[in-house]
Amino acid sequence: MTVPVDLLDPRLHAEQDLRGVWRDLRRDEPVRWQPVDPALGAAVPGFWVVTRHTDVQRALRDTRTFSSQGGNMLATLLKGSDDGAGKMLVVTDGPRHLALRSLLMSGFGPRQLGPVTASIARSTRDLLAELVARGGGDFVAEVAAQVPLRAICELLGVPAADRARVLELTNGAMLGEHTEEASIEVRIARSEIMQYYLRLAARRREAPGSDVISLLVGGTVDGRPVTEEEVLFNCYNLIIGGDETARLSMAGGLLALAEHPAQWRRLLADAALVGPATEEILRWTTPVAHVGRRATVDTELGGQPIAAGDAVTLWCASANFDQEAFEEPDSFALSRDPNRHVTFGFGPHFCLGAQLARAEIQALLSELRAQAESFEVTGPVPRLASNFIRGVAALPMSFTPTRTV
Ligand code: HEM
Repeated sequence: MTVPVDLLDPRLHAEQDLRGVWRDLRRDEPVRWQPVDPALGAAVPGFWVVTRHTDVQRALRDTRTFSSQGGNMLATLLKGSDDGAGKMLVVTDGPRHLALRSLLMSGFGPRQLGPVTASIARSTRDLLAELVARGGGDFVAEVAAQVPLRAICELLGVPAADRARVLELTNGAMLGEHTEEASIEVRIARSEIMQYYLRLAARRREAPGSDVISLLVGGTVDGRPVTEEEVLFNCYNLIIGGDETARLSMAGGLLALAEHPAQWRRLLADAALVGPATEEILRWTTPVAHVGRRATVDTELGGQPIAAGDAVTLWCASANFDQEAFEEPDSFALSRDPNRHVTFGFGPHFCLGAQLARAEIQALLSELRAQAESFEVTGPVPRLASNFIRGVAALPMSFTPTRTV
């Protein structure tokens, strides 16, 4: 019988390696009910914990039965609603989701992603070069926290002159994003960043470019123009979707390579491994621990009856290590093939920024190969205390630069 754990407790995720817990759950109770302490005053009495790869994919594929409009993470499922429901892509379903998604997708075409990918490569090269030249430092603060945010600013069309301020505000606004409580400073930063994007949207309405904000302000959904509120919610979706997640996969990828020196040597010897290594890093790090849904009708998942209205949590952190879906799931194998990880979700809400995130990890791996012979962890590596986002908060590293002849 599986030892019960409180998956709501953020410290559990920071302090424990949960792989054994997930393995037991997949074997004994693949769809398990976790009650919520009534003292928390949550809108739901508990939630289903789904751990098998096949069940996670099944629920993610079927947005009619398992909708994200009632929240797509524990924090909002427990609150009972998401303010962005029906307006922000990730918490919208049905025809409106389709319309919003195809509007946003045109901002992720080769014309937009080409220049962004090129500047990801440049900023990764420069930031890593500075860190290697100094002998090392905190890889999270100095590289992994910078590259994804710069890429999002570029995608959204933030003018170069505003970048430094926008990066600073966004970093402030994102602190504790995955929890319902936020400090006064975080709330102020969030409100300032929203006001900034409102002003930028007004400018783009007057003089559109080829960036995502211009697409949104000029677009239509349900036969009417996209509202100001929808523009803001979707800018916010790109920032929260693409900043911390990509940061965690870059940092977790470097940590995994440092912990598996034989894999690093294989990568160093073979450039063709960069592609599959990117996928293995995405699987290994799984930055989004779970994705949440609400059942819209009485249904069943993995043989377990589920009632209409029930909160359902789909644990990518478990599914990506399911022995039914992956050979030797607990080994970090850069040439893994096939690699059907659910790191970017699955089905209609499959991550819109997957290509961008892959470009960020690939740029990191290519630059590591070019600039470093070896690297090692030089201090404690604190893990984030969150039931939603997984990974490291800091990564002190030293580097041995590539010898030039
Ligand atoms: C959706 C993970 C990078 C934008 C998702 C979902 C996951 C995910 C699991 C599905 C959520 C759900 O079904 O409820 C990740 C990870 C990333 C990453 C692990 C990095 C390693 C990005 C980037 C962007 C982005 C770089 C954009 C700049 C989005 C958007 C959605 C989404 C807009 C909503 C898609 C929809 O609802 O149709 N992401 N993401 N993500 N992601 Fe990402």
